[in-house]
Amino acid sequence: MKPSQLFQTALGPDDLHSFFHEVRQTSERLGAPLSDADATVQSMPDASPAKWHLAHTTWFFEAMVLHPFVPGYEPFDEEFSFLFNSYYETLGARQPRPRRGMITRPALSQILDYRKHVDFGLDALLRTSPDQNIAELVELGCHHEQQHQELLLTDILHLFAQNPLHPAYRDPGPVEVETADLPPLAFTDFDGGIVEIGHGSVGFAYDSEGPRHRALVEPFRLANRLVTNGEWADFIADGGYRKSLLWLSEGWAKVLAEGWSQPLYWEERDGQNWTMTLKGFQPIDPIAPVTHISYFEADAFATWSGKRLPTEFEWEAAAQEIAIQGNFLDTHRLRPKPASPHVGGLQQIFGDVWEWTRSAFSPYPRFHAVEGAIGEYNGKFMSGQFVLRGGSCVTPPGHIRASYRNFFPGHARWQFSGLRLAEDG
Ligand SMILES: [Fe+2]
Repeated sequence: MKPSQLFQTALGPDDLHSFFHEVRQTSERLGAPLSDADATVQSMPDASPAKWHLAHTTWFFEAMVLHPFVPGYEPFDEEFSFLFNSYYETLGARQPRPRRGMITRPALSQILDYRKHVDFGLDALLRTSPDQNIAELVELGCHHEQQHQELLLTDILHLFAQNPLHPAYRDPGPVEVETADLPPLAFTDFDGGIVEIGHGSVGFAYDSEGPRHRALVEPFRLANRLVTNGEWADFIADGGYRKSLLWLSEGWAKVLAEGWSQPLYWEERDGQNWTMTLKGFQPIDPIAPVTHISYFEADAFATWSGKRLPTEFEWEAAAQEIAIQGNFLDTHRLRPKPASPHVGGLQQIFGDVWEWTRSAFSPYPRFHAVEGAIGEYNGKFMSGQFVLRGGSCVTPPGHIRASYRNFFPGHARWQFSGLRLAEDG
């Protein structure tokens, strides 16, 4: 089965060629502030070294495009496939994920040379106006690399948060805490009914975003903005992390086992809450959206509030009507931004933080993973994870859609993940 049957693509040859270069250059710009040591250390099994992200995205183009479609292609190094294959069983053995930080060699400079080698091969291929099948794989490789750009930043944040000196990834120094008023929490009514869910026919989408299909949604209400740090502080002050009845069983077990008492990077200093950010250690902004919370924390907060998390179908039905604008990677803020008191209706749907939904990441009706390596991209992860929607402050602009389904296990906290409240209509 061709990827075109499940991965929707959009670009003509010239646009694809420039998209490819733009994506590749963006990754190198994101890696530029890092030393070889910064880029090599792995802070936990879930996070990968920056060097690995830069190499793995390159391996993806090599394994999916250059090897199968360029006769006589000479790999940069035969052994790199073992080092930089992530999880593709059909493409051979690989370094175990928790041991990616052991790859002190090749050095970062060699990885950058590897990138040049593969860029050269792709550049030559793209000049020949390759057929649709190849073009689709290149486009998929670009979107794959954009996903890893976000992961590179969230993984660097986790790494730097382990350092007692709280180093900044970039722009060290105080970030002004917003003083603007916060719009009061309000809820927008939606009628529900039969809604169309999933990606239509225009533009790129991952296979998991389709097929587009009908879903039945009961009347519901969605909050106008994201939950803030100040509201989260109220939850903590009210004993939110100590009241077992607010929590799902699996979440309460995590509270006890991990000692959760606040969002991942919060730390109290002189009676004030501070947090680790990509711009170093900063006071929290009480009116900015809370972030780095797990699904279980989001769910407990919603229960404490007398509300609930939205389903992914409710979220998408609302988001389909909203322009894709927001605080993404290109604002260089690298932190979620407070909602505006001057805007009515739903805000912060796109950008700022990924919004946990109560929906399991599972296949849509009539979904079938394609055969072969590409079929391993999403389909085999459809168990034990929850869907997050809307993108974050480190999502590359242009990478997000109303139909986009991100997914993480319920205990994951190191992504830019937050929540929007919902209730029954
Ligand atoms: Fe990957």
